[in-house]
Amino acid sequence: MSPSDQFRVVGRPFSAAEIAAVARLHAAEVPEGFLSSLGEPVLRTLYRHVGSSELGVLFVAESLPAGEPLGYICGALDTSALLREFAVRRWPIAVPQLAPRLLHPRRLYRMLETLTYPGAADPALPRAEIMNFVVVPSLRGRGVADRLFDHLIRWFGDHGEPAVKVVTGERQRRAHGFYEKSGAEPRGRTAVHRGAQSRIYVCPIPPPRRAGVATLRTEGES
Ligand SMILES: CC(C)(COP(=O)(O)OP(=O)(O)OC[C@H]1O[C@@H](n2cnc3c(N)ncnc32)[C@H](O)[C@@H]1OP(=O)(O)O)[C@@H](O)C(=O)NCCC(=O)NCCS
Repeated sequence: MSPSDQFRVVGRPFSAAEIAAVARLHAAEVPEGFLSSLGEPVLRTLYRHVGSSELGVLFVAESLPAGEPLGYICGALDTSALLREFAVRRWPIAVPQLAPRLLHPRRLYRMLETLTYPGAADPALPRAEIMNFVVVPSLRGRGVADRLFDHLIRWFGDHGEPAVKVVTGERQRRAHGFYEKSGAEPRGRTAVHRGAQSRIYVCPIPPPRRAGVATLRTEGES
């Protein structure tokens, strides 16, 4: 696919179908991740929250003119605060979705690890974080990832963030390649889950382009 005229990047507000597509992409392309083990309904609730919270942001790449989802990127100004807000606001929906999944002790343990890792992060690292980033396999290496990443970096810049961190699994080699070519620096390793090493990258953010903050859907488009 050539490039930019064949897809667009959109921001909030998202339709239920768009949120469902993001949850499907997450489950399909990050299958070994803990969140995928919680199932698509939980992922939909989570992404609905990230896509509407002032503490987070979601951008989705869609084909033109069909509007098929090609990828997404999401980030948080403060992941701990975003997860707390999620728990407070979404518990009536999330608890019934999560309860049957958490009967499994290993999953419950991994959930506690997931919830505690943002608060335990090295305070020298940026607070802002890339939470997840996926492009469909057929369009990797075609510029979709660059456009999504640019939108997210600009959004962080518009919020005055000087840098952003990302924690990515040791086996996600293509993601390492992407972050390195995008100017991110490796800052060591961590284990969000016991026995599973992840790499930490930090990417500097240029200062904002203009006054105001791009959060509206039309501003999410290039
Ligand atoms: C991470 C992701 C969104 C990046 O999108 P992408 O379209 O693959 O990214 P790009 O092709 O622009 O960049 C990847 C770079 O890494 C390089 N690369 C590919 N395989 C690599 C490998 N095994 N080791 C190191 N670098 C590699 C590519 O050559 C490319 O660099 P180039 O453009 O200079 O050739 C996509 O690969 C993806 O969805 N991966 C699965 C989910 C995932 O791991 N997400 C990260 C969560 S933090």
